[in-house]
Amino acid sequence: MIGDTKVLFSGMQATGNLTLGNYLGALKNWVNLSEEYLCFYSVVDMHSITVRQDPAELRKRARNLLHLYIAAGLDPEKACIYFQSHVSGHAELAWILNCFTYMGELNRMTQFKDKAAKHSDNINAGLYTYPVLMAADILLYQADVVPVGADQMQHLEITRDIAQRFNKIYGDVFTIPEPFVGKAGARVMSLQNPEKKMSKSDENPNASIYLTDDPDTIVRKFKRAVTDSEGVIAYRDEQPGVRNLLDIYCACTDKTPEEAVKEFAGQGYGTLKAAVAESVVSVLRPIQDRVKELEKDKAYIDRIIKENAEKAEYYANKTLRKVKHKIGYPDRIR
Ligand code: TRP
Repeated sequence: MIGDTKVLFSGMQATGNLTLGNYLGALKNWVNLSEEYLCFYSVVDMHSITVRQDPAELRKRARNLLHLYIAAGLDPEKACIYFQSHVSGHAELAWILNCFTYMGELNRMTQFKDKAAKHSDNINAGLYTYPVLMAADILLYQADVVPVGADQMQHLEITRDIAQRFNKIYGDVFTIPEPFVGKAGARVMSLQNPEKKMSKSDENPNASIYLTDDPDTIVRKFKRAVTDSEGVIAYRDEQPGVRNLLDIYCACTDKTPEEAVKEFAGQGYGTLKAAVAESVVSVLRPIQDRVKELEKDKAYIDRIIKENAEKAEYYANKTLRKVKHKIGYPDRIR
C-alpha cells in the first residue's frame, strides 16, 4: 500500500520477439490495471542476462520494450515503467534474499530445470537464483498484487515463502504479495499446435503472431493456422484450434465466445480465419504506428527513463533501508 492505493508489480523480458500472446495475455491487462493500482512495470534486463545476450541487441530490445509499454497504452507519467538495471536495489535485495532462500527450494523450480536443459552449456548461478531476483523485484516495492501467467506462479509462491520467512524473523518488513486474480488476460495458444501456449521462443515462425508482423504476414499465418476436420465453428475443448481462433477474436473485439459463435454460425473456417486476422491487424496497427512515433522522440523517452528510474529508486530505497537495518548492517552516516 502506498497511501490507500494498492501496489502492483510486474515485469517482462526484452528477449525474443514479443507475440500476440504477450499483448493479449499480459500487456493489455496491465493497461486496465494501471487505473486501479500504483503500478511498477519493469523491463527486467537483469533477468535477461541469465542466458547469453548480444549487448547491442539487448540494449535495443530493452528500449523497444519500453516503447511498446507506452504504445500499448500505459501512461508513463502514471505507471512507473523503468529498466530493472537502473535501480541497484534489485541486486542488493536479491543478495540479501539469497541468504534466506534454501537450495532445496530452488532445486524444485521447474523453469530452472527446463532452462538448464535448454542451455546446458551455460548453467550459471544466476539462472539458478533467478527466482530470488524475481522475489526481490516484487518485495522491493511492497507489492500487494502481481499479475503473472501460470508459468511464473511457482516463482510467486517462493517469493511469498521467502517474505514470510523473513518477516517471521524480523517482524513485518515485507508485504506478502498475492497473485492477481480477476479478469485474467486471454491465454493465446500456438497457431500450429493449439495445445501449446504461443511462445516467443517457438522455432516455427508460423506458430506465433509477432507484435511487429505486418498485415500480410498476419493474414498468411492465420490462413495456415491448424484447425480440425469437424468443419463447424464451435467453442469447445474438442476443437482447440478453432477455440483459440475464437479466443483471439474475442480478445481483439471485446466480444464473448457466445456472441462470436453466433456471428460465425454456418460459416467456414476460411471466413473465421480472415475475420480473426482482420481483428488482430486492427489491434496491432495503432500500436505499431505509435512505436514508430516513439522511436523518433528520443528526448521524450529519455526523460521518461530518467524520471521513472528515480521514482522507482525512491520506493526501492525505502524498503532497502529498512531491510538493511533489520538484518544488522551498520547504519550509513550521512
Ligand atoms: N520472470 C518473469 C517472466 O519471465 C518476468 C519477471 C521478472 C517478473 N520479475 C518479475 C514478473 C516480477 C512478475 C513479477 O515472465
